[in-house]
Amino acid sequence: MKKEKIILTGDRPTGRLHLGHYVGSLKRRVELQNSGEFDKIYIEIADSQAITDNSHNLDKVRQNVIEVALDYLACGIDPEKTTIFVQSQIPELCELTFYYLNLVTLSRLERNPTIKEEIKLRGFQNSIPAGFLTYPVSQAADITLFDATDVPVGEDQLPMLEQTREIVRTFNRLYDEVLVEPEARIPENDICSRLPGLDGKAKMSKSLGNCIYLSDSEEEIKKKVMGMYTDPDHLRVEDPGKVEGNTVFTYLDAFCKEEHFEKYLPEYKNLDELKDHYKRGGLGDVKIKKFLNEILQEELAPIRKRREEYQKDIRKVYQILEEGSKKAREAGSKKIEEVKKAIGINYFEDQDLINSHVEKYNK
Ligand code: TRP
Repeated sequence: MKKEKIILTGDRPTGRLHLGHYVGSLKRRVELQNSGEFDKIYIEIADSQAITDNSHNLDKVRQNVIEVALDYLACGIDPEKTTIFVQSQIPELCELTFYYLNLVTLSRLERNPTIKEEIKLRGFQNSIPAGFLTYPVSQAADITLFDATDVPVGEDQLPMLEQTREIVRTFNRLYDEVLVEPEARIPENDICSRLPGLDGKAKMSKSLGNCIYLSDSEEEIKKKVMGMYTDPDHLRVEDPGKVEGNTVFTYLDAFCKEEHFEKYLPEYKNLDELKDHYKRGGLGDVKIKKFLNEILQEELAPIRKRREEYQKDIRKVYQILEEGSKKAREAGSKKIEEVKKAIGINYFEDQDLINSHVEKYNK
């Protein structure tokens, strides 16, 4: 039988999704969803994972499950084609995680570069919650419970995929070949993999307050774009300007296509011409910001409109999540039976085991 192609990916519900999520992964997921190349597609709202560093701030997680769901639907994730589910509603994930925890060492978990970075950011140094340190193991369960072959994510998730693949290999070697080894799919365009924030800081991130949200209004987007970090030495229009490290140009690299010039800035043919003029001097920041604003408005308007439609029927969105979770659970409970059989803890189905004990004591 040909191996099925299955996508699984997800996000933590700790806030609304932003432009970094969009170019880093969401846009790609929608393309993959519509490619018809995949047999099954799952998207998980990873609330249990979000709890690992928000155990004292649970309301944040509770409030944002629906926000993330709205953002997914707004971007074009189609519940007819993609199963959207909520992690905590699939108890089989906990079960699987518990068995996987025996297949990794503490020192291996502590070497995970994404975890190391997050521990620093959260100031956990001497008091790392055990659940937090082990969330990559639970993520391995997320991926493998659904036999995922492809995991579209941003590049910060590569260590999680590596950890998952190690667990899969160890499990298959120790027990039985029942787990599927997944591949990460990261954006081809480097800028998209790590979109900087509005302030030019390395990453667009909620905690740094430098985001354009997918749900921002037209005015909010415009205000944010007009306040973006450019070249601090480009003081007068006639001054030569730098495009490297200039956030407006970085965003143009990520979003601008030639047709945008025809439409909004016909005096230039392409981005290279615009950059040359900026470098020479004589091109003001306001002009390039206005251009970027047009491009972002064009990209985000349909997303915002679709979100507004779904916002009118929140009950229906909760229902989509409930049905998705039910469907995911059906798949998950089949897989966990397979896993338990491989480990040998399927006592009541294992007639050979029962018979051998009958024989042992009936002699
Ligand atoms: N760790 C991911 C993030 O922070 C979210 C996530 C949870 C995920 N489970 C997953 C991503 C499974 C891909 C596959 O963005």
